[in-house]
Amino acid sequence: MRKILFASSEVHPLIKTGGLADVSASLPIALAQQDQDVRIILPAYRQCLEALDKIETVATIKLDGFHAPIEILQSTLPNSEVPIWLVNSPEHFDREGGPYGTTEAGDWEDNAARFTLFSRAIAAVAMDQSGLDWQPDILHCNDWQTGLAPALIANESDRPATVFTIHNLAYQGLYSQDVFEALDLPPSLWHSEGVEFYDLMSFMKGGLIYADHVTTVSPTYADEICTYEFGYGLEGLLSHRADQGRLTGILNGIDTDEWDPERDSYIDKNYSIKTIRHKSANKEALQKLFSLPEKEGVLLMGTISRLVSQKGVDLTLDAVGKLLDAGENIQLICLGSGEASYEQDLRVLRAQHPDKVGLHIGYSEELSHQIEAGSDVFLMPSRFEPCGLNQLYSLRYGTLPVVRNTGGLADSVVDAAGANLKNGFSTGFKFEAATAEELEETLLRAIGLFKHPRIWRKVMVTAMEQDYSWEKSSKAYQVLYDNLLNN
Ligand code: ADP
Ligand code: GLC
Repeated sequence: MRKILFASSEVHPLIKTGGLADVSASLPIALAQQDQDVRIILPAYRQCLEALDKIETVATIKLDGFHAPIEILQSTLPNSEVPIWLVNSPEHFDREGGPYGTTEAGDWEDNAARFTLFSRAIAAVAMDQSGLDWQPDILHCNDWQTGLAPALIANESDRPATVFTIHNLAYQGLYSQDVFEALDLPPSLWHSEGVEFYDLMSFMKGGLIYADHVTTVSPTYADEICTYEFGYGLEGLLSHRADQGRLTGILNGIDTDEWDPERDSYIDKNYSIKTIRHKSANKEALQKLFSLPEKEGVLLMGTISRLVSQKGVDLTLDAVGKLLDAGENIQLICLGSGEASYEQDLRVLRAQHPDKVGLHIGYSEELSHQIEAGSDVFLMPSRFEPCGLNQLYSLRYGTLPVVRNTGGLADSVVDAAGANLKNGFSTGFKFEAATAEELEETLLRAIGLFKHPRIWRKVMVTAMEQDYSWEKSSKAYQVLYDNLLNN
């Protein structure tokens, strides 16, 4: 049994802004089910303290650079037996708003201090200096918020092996040199082969340089980030790590208990491959919910997303707008929140086509399940997508994903065309260039295929047969952990 400390700044269902939270719950649960002694470490945000009922203080530590002692609180991840440690510094984490800021005011001004404190606490637990009397064999960090932890323990003897997973290279935690100096971090970290990045401090680089192994969440994204287009200036470093055999892409899995059309309690009617006909009841329920007419033969397109440029929201707006203007028999239901201009553009699209567009600006767990179950296709025209989870949920719900051929989307969807369609391998629709024209053409292909119910149903069944549970991917992490421990 390996001891694994899994560090993340979001964990579903306690705190979530995106897929990182889903993975930070479902991967540890999968590892625990395979008899690993895995513990999660997370900041004690107000939402977490409110959501958990059994919390006890198990340690108190003093961290360099911070005056007040920090408590480590212990609880259990809901719906599991995985222990969770919360780093409690009320001054930094007990506040109203999201984990990184508020929609109105943007990022918290003290994020560098907040996640330095978090990383220092992770390092203290990893080195068994916190009084918990438990030292991991593996420290597995995720995204920039935890990036300093591998750097802080890199030179310690008796340290655990360290893994750093990139969930999204677009968010790097960049701050000025003044901020770095105010954080009281070891000055030795400040150089170009350390956390310094063109005169800025990069939290992300802490993980990329100092972790024993770097992973990202799909094989294609692992290749993409070694290129100029996707690397944000880090492509040289990442290529170097890849050449050393120290960069691997492991496709995310999904929580198949939570995302299961056969048992999903949020949806109108449960269904499986055998009872696939019942999916249509969910379409009707969804149309009713958004006051859209239940028109014969209408292709219902769903989308659930952070409304940011990454997700190609503008492509959706343009392409769907054109198809609606052309009178195509389609409907769009969109759930999301993010940049104000996209929210506004979506409101305008709905106002122009009130009987064809449904919109919910905001966050809703329940609605996200209902859209997955009720839509015919799921739109995900991302400019880049490290892995993407919604296309995986969509496959499982027989809701054919329409995706750009990038990152984890490339690795998980088989286009419904040519030999793949003929041979029964297709699971969705794919296009290459990030243009509204290509998306529109692809949607026209989907509209065309939808007129052939038998073929459509075959693609749905193939999609639902795919296995994107954690079974395979969590084993890949274990092989990686073993290799690190054996070397
Ligand atoms: P990312 O992490 O880049 O946002 P992913 O596809 O990996 O993309 O994961 C997004 C997760 O967040 C999914 O679980 C998705 O259902 C969820 N999600 C995104 N926006 C919303 C929303 N407005 N309401 C409910 N769930 C949402
Ligand atoms: C990031 C990526 C997304 C990925 C998720 C979980 O938020 O944008 O593609 O699925 O992390 O790894």
